[in-house]
Amino acid sequence: MTLKILITGASGLLGSKIVELNKDRYEIIPTHSTQPFHPNSVKMDIIVGENVLQVFNKFRPNVVIHTAAETNVDRCESYKNEAWKVNVEGTRNIAEACKNANAKLIFISTDYIFNGEKGLYNEEDKPNPINYYGLTKLKGEEIVRAHCEDYIIARPSVLYGWHLKKTNYVTWVINSLKQGKRIDVVEDHYNSPTLADNLAEAVLRTIETDANGTYHIAGSERINRCDFALKIAEAFKLDKTLINSIKMEDLKVWIAKRPKDSSLSVDKAQKELKVGLLNVKEGLVKMKKRENSEKCHL
Ligand SMILES: NC(=O)c1ccc[n+]([C@@H]2O[C@H](COP(=O)([O-])OP(=O)(O)OC[C@H]3O[C@@H](n4cnc5c(N)ncnc54)[C@H](OP(=O)(O)O)[C@@H]3O)[C@@H](O)[C@H]2O)c1
Repeated sequence: MTLKILITGASGLLGSKIVELNKDRYEIIPTHSTQPFHPNSVKMDIIVGENVLQVFNKFRPNVVIHTAAETNVDRCESYKNEAWKVNVEGTRNIAEACKNANAKLIFISTDYIFNGEKGLYNEEDKPNPINYYGLTKLKGEEIVRAHCEDYIIARPSVLYGWHLKKTNYVTWVINSLKQGKRIDVVEDHYNSPTLADNLAEAVLRTIETDANGTYHIAGSERINRCDFALKIAEAFKLDKTLINSIKMEDLKVWIAKRPKDSSLSVDKAQKELKVGLLNVKEGLVKMKKRENSEKCHL
């Protein structure tokens, strides 16, 4: 029997990579809430419970990969009701539908559920979010555990990769340096940058290995934003002197607090899923190789 995999947020950075990777292997049902990104995408607003049920009743998926979220950390802080609706109530609608349909649920969470005081967090460490985005994603995790027996909670960190319409940290650095713009980047903010294509492969491994539970699925290297920008410049042969290192307290554009060091230990995922999680250089090299094949990207 061919698995039927429904993907929420299929138009997003991670969702689009998951669709691309799986479309020839499984029956894929990409979904969107605003504009369709894939030719056969189905409209499903996760906030609307009835809409979710209709789509589940029609397609009867065996596996659901739930990537849809309000991912803008500052918008979550400023528009708390909207963030709660999408990240908490939307996740509840998906979890309930999975329970009723007996479908495996793969929920994409985040490193921002941690407070960032320790770094290199493992799956046993206690979450303690310091911003509203992290809080809503943690509530999402609790809902998934409460509703579903067969689930994966995958926690990545700082996603990057090519996307036709959306920018991310890496594409922002590349575009700015290409245009000769000076950029301020923080030297005291650490995470585990994750190539979206690599995360998509690892998510697929959780299905193939029939894994269950919580996994940190991120890049294998802890790095600060400034060193990350320098490595981006190196990989894409851009002008490093445009990169200006500053402290988080001097960056005035953030509305929400950021954890200082939310880097993740990926030992469990590497061992149990037998998946190669890339370090920063490996991820950037892979991205560079795809620069010309993924046209019109940002
Ligand atoms: N980006 C990061 O650095 C990062 C880091 C750690 C964890 N994560 C987690 O990884 C996952 C994927 O992130 P991403 O960066 O790939 O996301 P993204 O590019 O921001 O895409 C998010 C998607 O969510 C969909 N969405 C928003 N509201 C919706 C609603 N009411 N109903 C249905 N769909 C809705 C959007 O679809 P439409 O365009 O159709 O509205 C959008 O395509 C998220 O769960 C995020 O929390 C991200």
